[in-house]
Amino acid sequence: MKETVLIAGLGLIGGSLALNMKEHDNMRIIGYDANKSTLEYCKMNGITDETYDNFAEAVKQADICILAAPVSVTVGLIKELDTIALNKDILVTDVSSVKGPVMDAAKNLTNERISFIGGHPMAGSHKKGIQAAKQHLFENAIYVLSPSNENMEEHIAKLKALLTPTKCKFLILEPEEHDEMTGVISHFPHLIASSLVQQAKNWQQKHPYIPKLAAGGFRDITRIASSNPSLWKDIFFQNKQKMSRLLTDWIEEMNHLKQLIDEGSEDEMQEYLQLAKNYRDGLDSAKRGALYTTYDIYVDIFDQPGALLRVIELLAEHEISISNIEILEIREGITGVLRLSFQNDNDRQLSHAILRKNKYDTVIQE
Ligand SMILES: NC(=O)c1ccc[n+]([C@@H]2O[C@H](COP(=O)([O-])OP(=O)(O)OC[C@H]3O[C@@H](n4cnc5c(N)ncnc54)[C@H](O)[C@@H]3O)[C@@H](O)[C@H]2O)c1
Repeated sequence: MKETVLIAGLGLIGGSLALNMKEHDNMRIIGYDANKSTLEYCKMNGITDETYDNFAEAVKQADICILAAPVSVTVGLIKELDTIALNKDILVTDVSSVKGPVMDAAKNLTNERISFIGGHPMAGSHKKGIQAAKQHLFENAIYVLSPSNENMEEHIAKLKALLTPTKCKFLILEPEEHDEMTGVISHFPHLIASSLVQQAKNWQQKHPYIPKLAAGGFRDITRIASSNPSLWKDIFFQNKQKMSRLLTDWIEEMNHLKQLIDEGSEDEMQEYLQLAKNYRDGLDSAKRGALYTTYDIYVDIFDQPGALLRVIELLAEHEISISNIEILEIREGITGVLRLSFQNDNDRQLSHAILRKNKYDTVIQE
C-alpha cells in the first residue's frame, strides 16, 4: 500500500522537497498551505496528488509529515499536532533553519503516535515561494537531522530513505550546536550583509555614484541581503539569544579594529588580515572532509560574449559533467576567474588538459 507524505508549507523548500518525493513510486504526496494560489499551482502542475487548506484534515491522512512553513509557524503547527486525534502512527520532521524552538515544542508532544526528528536542509536561494522550487536544490548539500530522543534509529533510517532522491549528505547534530553554528556561518552574515547595504545607501546621499562603483567585492559580500526579508526576520528572532551574543562579539571586534585604525597599528592590522586570510583560504580544503569532496580547477576567462559558454561546450563535447561553476573576480572588460568543480579527479585532470589544449590558462589547486 502507498504511504502518504504530507508537506505543510509548499514554498521554496517544501515545494523542492515535494518535487523530490515524486521520485518515489510508492508514495502519495499531499500538501497543505495557507496560500490558496500555492495550492492551486501545486494541483495544476502535478506537484502534489492532493491539497488541503486544513492542517488537521491533512495530518490525519499522513504516515509522514514534513513541516516546511516559516519557523514560527512550524512551532505553532507542532503544538497543533498534539491536539489532533490521530488513528495511525506518524513520523514528523521539519526543515526549519533554527532548531531550538522547534525541538522544544517537539519535546512537549504527548501523543505517542508521533515520532519527531528535526531537520534542516542547508541549501536555499534568495527566491521564495512554490514557483522558485527546484528538484536539484539539495544536491550535495548537508541535511542536518536532530532526533528528539535516543531510540530513533529505525525512524532516522526511514527519513533518510525518504530523502534519498534529494542527493543530500546527512549530518546528525544537537539543536544547540546546530543553532550556534548556523548562527555564526549563516544567520549572522545575513544581518551583516543587510547592514553593509544600509551603510552604502546612507552614504549614497553624499555620493550618488556609489551604486555604479559597487562592483565585485561589495556585490559578493552583500548578495545574501537580497533574500526573503520576512523569512530572515523570523529566523533572527527564533535564534534571538545566539544572534544577540554574536552582535556583542561583533561590536567588540569592530571596536578593536577601530582602535587599530585610530592608533595607526599597522603591524597588528597586517597580522589580523593575514590570520583571516589563512583561515578563509583553508575553508575550501576543510570542506573536503568526509562529507564533501570536490575537485576544482580555476580557469581565466575574458569578459566577452560567449566566453563562459565556450568553456562549458568544450567539456560537454567530451561528456564531462561539471558539478559546480563559480565566477570569481570578474570585472567589466578584463579577465575573470572561473572555478569549475568536478565529481572526481579523473574529470578534473581531463578538463585541465582539454582547456589547456584550447589555450585556456587553467590551474589545479588542492
Ligand atoms: N530559504 C532558504 O534559504 C531556506 C533554507 C533552508 C531551510 N529553510 C527553512 O524552510 C522553511 C520555509 O522557507 P522557504 O524558503 O521555503 O519559505 P517560502 O516563503 O518560500 O515558503 C513558505 C511557505 O509556507 C507557507 N505558509 C506561511 N504561513 C503558513 C501557515 N500559517 N500555514 C501553512 N503554510 C504557511 C507560505 O504560504 C509558503 O508557501 C523555513 O522554516 C526556513 O527556515 C529555508
